[in-house]
This record gives sequence, C-alpha cells and structure tokens, in this order.
Amino acid sequence: MKVTVVGAGAVGASCAEYIAMKNFASEVVLLDIKEGYAEGKAMDLMQTASLNGFDTKITGSTSDYSKTAGSDIAVITSGIPRKPGMTREELIGINAGIVKSVATSLLEHSPNATLIVVSNPMDTMTYLVHKTTNLPKHKIIGMGGALDSARFKYRLAEALEAPISDVDGMVIGGHSDKGMVPLIGHATRNSVKVSEFLPEDKMDWVVQETKVGGATLTKLLGTSAWYAPGAAVSGLVQAIACDQKKMFPCSTLLEGEYGLDDICIGVPVLLGKNGIEKVVEIELSDAEKAKMKESAEGVKKTNGLLQL
Ligand code: 2OP
Repeated sequence: MKVTVVGAGAVGASCAEYIAMKNFASEVVLLDIKEGYAEGKAMDLMQTASLNGFDTKITGSTSDYSKTAGSDIAVITSGIPRKPGMTREELIGINAGIVKSVATSLLEHSPNATLIVVSNPMDTMTYLVHKTTNLPKHKIIGMGGALDSARFKYRLAEALEAPISDVDGMVIGGHSDKGMVPLIGHATRNSVKVSEFLPEDKMDWVVQETKVGGATLTKLLGTSAWYAPGAAVSGLVQAIACDQKKMFPCSTLLEGEYGLDDICIGVPVLLGKNGIEKVVEIELSDAEKAKMKESAEGVKKTNGLLQL
C-alpha cells in the first residue's frame, strides 16, 4: 500500500506521521515544493521508526512526482493555511490553482489513486478536483467532517465531563465556521442521547464551539491546526487501505442525495477499498434539513468563485 501526501507542512507531516505509526502502509511519500523540506521531514520521521515501532518507509521528494508513481491513495494538503480572523473561503484565490495542479500531477503518475482533499476551502477544492480530473466520484474524498466530528466529541466530552471514549457524534454539512451541522440530536453518551444529560443551553454551546473549532485554534496558534487534521486524514486513509467499510462524514459529490445536486459537501459515507463505497442517507429532522440546505447554499456560493 503506497500513500502520497502532498504538502510537507504541519498538516501534511502529521498525516504522514500518523499513517506511518498505524503501520498499514508499506510506503509514504511526502512531497513539497520547498527544496529539501519534504526530504528532511521524511528523514526526521524515519528516525522515529525504531522509537515508535513502525516499518512504513517514509521518503521525501522536492516536486518530483515520479517518486509518487503507483500511489494507491494520495492526500492533498498543499496550499496556504488561514491566519487568525480569516475564513477558509478566503483561501480560494491561491489554493485553487495549487490544488488543480497537484491533482493533475498526481494522476499523471497514479491514474488509479484515490484522492483525499484537505486544502481549504475544502468542499470547493473537492468540487474543483471533480471538475478538472476524470477521476470517478467514488475516488475523490474531501476531509473535513471527520475532523469536525472529532472536535464535536471533544466538546461533548467536556460538557458531559465524560471520557471521550464514551461519546459519539457526527458533523455533516460544509467544512466552514457557519456551514457545519453538528448532529447534536444524534449524539450519544454510551448509546444514550446526550439530551438526557445536557440542558439545551449546554448543547447549544457544544454546537457553537464545534463550528468555530478551527478558528479557535487558528487564533491560539497563529495558523491552522495540524494534529487533529492529520489524525483525521490518517483514519480515512486506513479505512480505504484496509477496506474497513467504516462510516465517516466526508465531502463527496452529491447527485440527488439529501436533496442536493452538483455539490461536494459533508455527508455520512462508508469508506473501503473503492474509496466511497456508499453514501448513507440518514433521517434528519426538519431543522437539520434546513441547516444542510443553508450550508449547501454557502458551499455553492464559494464554488461560484472558481474559474472552471
Ligand atoms: C481546520 O479546521 C485546517 O480546516 C482545517 O483546522
């Protein structure tokens, strides 16, 4: 199993590290445009192999896509991250050109790869990959909901004063501060709905803190987060690599599901060896449906900024 991660910045390097540490991939190639940077990060990561107990071979490359040839899965993290106060959507001007070029270069050398898009604005970048490559839709996956759901669980555990392993929850919709739809009505503490434990105002607090989870970290860190995004990507890569048929909220091209068409947005999907094996249509309340519709309008507005 060969995996490529394009972009050796904080997110890309964390992706590579967590993928390697899970020890299911034979090789991870880390690629960046900055001279020697990916090679350095790969070497540093390889020097943790004996300490962290993995046999995955991590190699680095400066802009040489021939080194990525034959990748089964490729992750696109390249582009600029947001600064404090910025929205993800403001990155489109710079990141769209980068993502289009990276996707094209990856597929020249790995025409059968499954692509995972991380670069922001992620839903629109995922849509861009659909529009600028011939890759079938089940092989183009946007990573946002897995990260947002992890943040949702973090806040739920905090509010419940519960161990995180007792909590489950999912975030669907656009990967944006305003567009996310944390499914608080579905969230559970060991199979019991959280509404049995939390008052309305506390559940509203959890939803709001989840929606701005990325912005909160960007304000603290001065740049976008990287540990949780990297870990979220590694979970998707593992589900595909190991054919787990595991359910995650991922950005995928909808053609009528959830009443939406010609849009990439976060919905529950099953991930396996074919990438997106199935879009899972779950029952949503009227309020959740309305939030999804509003979220989709926001994503489509950003898509409209693309010069396709
Ligand atoms: C985040 O929410 C980078 O969009 C990513 O942290």
